[in-house]
Amino acid sequence: MNRVKGKIAIVTGGSMGIGKACCLMLAAEGAHVAVMDVVDAEGRAVVDDIQQHGGIAEYWHLDVGDELQVQSAFAEVAKKFGGIHILVNNAGISGTDKPTHELTLDEWNQVMRVNVQGVFLCTKHAIPYLKQKGGSIINLSSIYGLIGAGDVPPYHASKGAVRLMTKNDALIYAKDNIRVNSIHPGFIWTPMVENYLKSHGEIEAGKKAVAALHPLQKIGDPDDIAYGVLYLASDESQFVTGSELVIDGGYTAR
Ligand SMILES: NC(=O)c1ccc[n+]([C@@H]2O[C@H](COP(=O)([O-])OP(=O)(O)OC[C@H]3O[C@@H](n4cnc5c(N)ncnc54)[C@H](O)[C@@H]3O)[C@@H](O)[C@H]2O)c1
Repeated sequence: MNRVKGKIAIVTGGSMGIGKACCLMLAAEGAHVAVMDVVDAEGRAVVDDIQQHGGIAEYWHLDVGDELQVQSAFAEVAKKFGGIHILVNNAGISGTDKPTHELTLDEWNQVMRVNVQGVFLCTKHAIPYLKQKGGSIINLSSIYGLIGAGDVPPYHASKGAVRLMTKNDALIYAKDNIRVNSIHPGFIWTPMVENYLKSHGEIEAGKKAVAALHPLQKIGDPDDIAYGVLYLASDESQFVTGSELVIDGGYTAR
């Protein structure tokens, strides 16, 4: 309990999957949580869940690629909750799975708009508030931001970008006591992975094959990532910035 008590946290893509787990865990540990997503009913259900358990949360409709929406939603959070301490840049899409020479520019840009432009815009508009109190930005990259897997080219490019945006912003804002770290999940059981497997064939066989890619022989749970987010959001990680926290069942250990 209370590992982030009284801190004000924004979680983008908070309606489902890893983002939802982060919202629930941060709230259970005492944070006031701004749940932001483009999928409204599920996001409001996350808020209801938090409130029913005695936590504090509110939902905002937010497309992370839209600068005006980001600017106004973050201003509303700061006004309503009294500031911003934590930004979890979680919203992301996997995009089209085609080899590079078959991709259209639109398919490329669609992924960059959410996964890279979204992180840029949310960071840009959170910084003025984080500067007032110090804070922590946690960027969801991926194992695909560390190594190649031979598929989803725009996704790899976007997650590689997020990894280095993290390190550079860690250097720029260290003087303001703003820490910036990235998390690199292996496969985690969320709608993103479920939909990916559905589009590639039989789901149970796909699950087994994906589990076998990890030395621990399983797919991770959203909470496995939320625990990492909680650590990086809390003061327990007050000397940690510019780092990459790999939570991947050993996938990249080889
Ligand atoms: N699940 C995995 O195996 C895995 C592995 C590595 C990294 N990640 C990363 O973790 C993050 C969360 O992944 P997930 O598996 O929970 O995905 P998910 O698809 O299950 O959930 C993503 C959430 O982001 C929201 N979203 C999408 N576009 C948005 C936009 N433009 N603005 C605001 N919200 C938007 C969706 O509505 C959804 O609620 C992503 O950045 C993803 O790339 C996931």
